[in-house]
Amino acid sequence: MSRKHKTYVIANWKMNPSTYGEAKRIFNGIKKTASYLHATRTVICPPSLYLSGLTESYGGHKISFGAQNVFWEREGSYTGEISPGQVASLGGEYVIVGHSERRAMGETNEHVRYKVKSVLEEQLTPVVCVGEKKRSEDGSHLAFVAREIEAVFAHFSEDAAARIILAYEPIWAIGGSAEDAMSAHEMHQMSLFIKKVLRDLVSDDVAESIPILYGGSVEAYNAEDLIRDGHIDGFLVGHASLDPAEFGDILKTADEKY
Ligand code: PGA
Repeated sequence: MSRKHKTYVIANWKMNPSTYGEAKRIFNGIKKTASYLHATRTVICPPSLYLSGLTESYGGHKISFGAQNVFWEREGSYTGEISPGQVASLGGEYVIVGHSERRAMGETNEHVRYKVKSVLEEQLTPVVCVGEKKRSEDGSHLAFVAREIEAVFAHFSEDAAARIILAYEPIWAIGGSAEDAMSAHEMHQMSLFIKKVLRDLVSDDVAESIPILYGGSVEAYNAEDLIRDGHIDGFLVGHASLDPAEFGDILKTADEKY
């Protein structure tokens, strides 16, 4: 089982920036660096309102686009929601599902599973976020992460599971600066644990092929250690993805691994 890309760097712009003009400026800055990467897939997940403008203006093939959330129904009376099909029709290929900020607004493991199903049905790639609020001495945070993974992977075929990307984002590390992020060593341990959980749910081949990304205060400063020693396949980047120079350095670091 092999994937097309060796590493993924996914930009989660969240509800930023405040104007489309600014979004274009940031995108144009990122485009320059992304254009000469060879092993890394750059994925930009802007606010969905900006998706069509950015996809239409982009003529290259090094950058893909995605949404930060979707609803699981295809269409209908669901005020304010957007569907995977609508994302696809604007050129989006990826959807972040189950981000902790959405879970904090009430999204459950069951909702995450419905969303992953509808994203897969639309032939898009779900980027499923898991991660604990805090660490505990007795290891109960590991059981928490395992449950989030099981809630998705226990319900899909091998083929479907093989199309999912997993982003491990410990909530305590999100939104800080590089010093708040996980260390590469801790990430390595977590990555081994996640692989073990996956092997209990899908075949060894599929478990091995599922990319594991790290997210939570990734900056240029800590990206190198994390990609070298963290046993990961890339990053999900929040605040640093809004700064083209900083994000460009993260992209180069991820690409230089190969
Ligand atoms: P951060 O956000 O990089 O700003 O910590 C990551 C995320 O929430 O996906």
